Amino acid sequence: AYVPLGGRYIMALDSGTTSVRAVIVDEYDCVVARASRHIKTMYPRSGWVEQDPMEILASQIAVMMEVQFKSGIHSDRIAAIGITNQRETTVVWDRDSGQPIHNAIVWQCRRTADISDRLVAEGMGETIRRKTGLMPDPYFSGTKIRWILDNVDGAQAAVDAGELMFGTIDTWLIYNLTGAAVHATDYTNASRTMLFNIHTLEWDDELLKMLDIPRSMLPEVRWSSDDYGSVSNEIMTYGPPITGVAGDQQASLFGHCCFTPGCTKNTYGTGCFMLMNTGETCVTSEHGLVSTIGIAQGGKISYALEGSIFHAGATIQWLRDKLGLISSAKDASDLCRHLDSNGGCYLVPAFSGLGAPWWDPDARGLICGLTGASDRATIVRAACESMAYQSFDVLHSMERDAGVKLEYLSVDGGASQNEFIMQFQADLLGIPVVLSENVETTALGAAYLAGLAVGYWEDLEDLEQNRVPGKRFEPSASEEVVARNLSGWHDAVERARSR
Ligand code: G3P
Repeated sequence: AYVPLGGRYIMALDSGTTSVRAVIVDEYDCVVARASRHIKTMYPRSGWVEQDPMEILASQIAVMMEVQFKSGIHSDRIAAIGITNQRETTVVWDRDSGQPIHNAIVWQCRRTADISDRLVAEGMGETIRRKTGLMPDPYFSGTKIRWILDNVDGAQAAVDAGELMFGTIDTWLIYNLTGAAVHATDYTNASRTMLFNIHTLEWDDELLKMLDIPRSMLPEVRWSSDDYGSVSNEIMTYGPPITGVAGDQQASLFGHCCFTPGCTKNTYGTGCFMLMNTGETCVTSEHGLVSTIGIAQGGKISYALEGSIFHAGATIQWLRDKLGLISSAKDASDLCRHLDSNGGCYLVPAFSGLGAPWWDPDARGLICGLTGASDRATIVRAACESMAYQSFDVLHSMERDAGVKLEYLSVDGGASQNEFIMQFQADLLGIPVVLSENVETTALGAAYLAGLAVGYWEDLEDLEQNRVPGKRFEPSASEEVVARNLSGWHDAVERARSR
């Protein structure tokens, strides 16, 4: 049987919003085994989104076990572990018991819109932007921490006494997998908290004061390829080292080998996230994007421009779970193909506001343009098209901010498997859309980061050599059709917006 370099492998954990995954990768980037579990999401009130941190942890450990069992590759043959995660999602737990004091507040949750409005009213918008690259928005972790401290009984007193710890999902997993030995995050995750200065690479006192968040609860910040301790022997017999950590969108940028300025990827996951590597220059967006830490590896920071779209694959899930219009993502793809146009119907999935480039937390979703001839397929197609329109808006802003015209767009994520959406995307953008050959690009990025730290792969060139581009979609629609579609979409967005 084929045995890789030294018979050793890298394990990557991808803790996403919809599911948690564990994959085992060999040195040629082949995913030799994978396991995944769905994560339950709760919507306690309009615009509120929560998950149970214990479920995330237990499911992550379960898939780590399952993937070893399936592949017969056990901890003695795992050279290192990489972790990548849904970003911004906030967990606060008790230092002594290790128990979370509240459910995780998920990145999509808008409950802290009033806190971010207050920051704007107090004139903090410009400071936040300059120091963090972000804009004041409930999306980021800072206001979510404040909400937990304000709303959980005894939390403020406990944090004042130094008894609470904060972490995004990477930190929560590292803390628990290492048997409470390591409380750390990486630069890419820290850059999404609205508390981290992306220029000095430190937690920022002025921002901490602004939200009254004590440093004592914050994790230590490290490089994405670094030492994060070892998995405790109670979880894996030989306790492999954790040496790679990155937010999932940054991990996917790395997994796409977008190492040089201008290189751009779009991931169609729960949300849709487009990142352009801008190198050592931190580009300030004039068109509704954020600046963020894109890659933190090899002692070097590359910044990125990011367009964050809150609902992409989540819209397809909504069609399935709430409307019952489809029973699987494949149904969506089949239905779309049966229509030769959208018939003037548009769906704006502003279920918890609109992200980039509109940043309107109070916008709400709508379907418009229905006629007596509209049917199930019309609505499903409008939902699929919405991912491509939103990505168009983000790419358009990105090109204007960076002053470059993209030659092609690299894509990955669940909905990138939907050929209708990918062709429609290429038609709208007028450039080719190139699929990643490896569906697990995010996990691969985390594996790369972990592997580089332990010499499993030597350097970035070593990674690039293994890269094989996947299917390519060439633009083929007429300018007239594209213009008509975009104009219908932008009319619909105007109607969904609150201001
Ligand atoms: O910023 C949120 C993002 O990291 C979530 O990613 O893959 O769960 O949609 P995903």
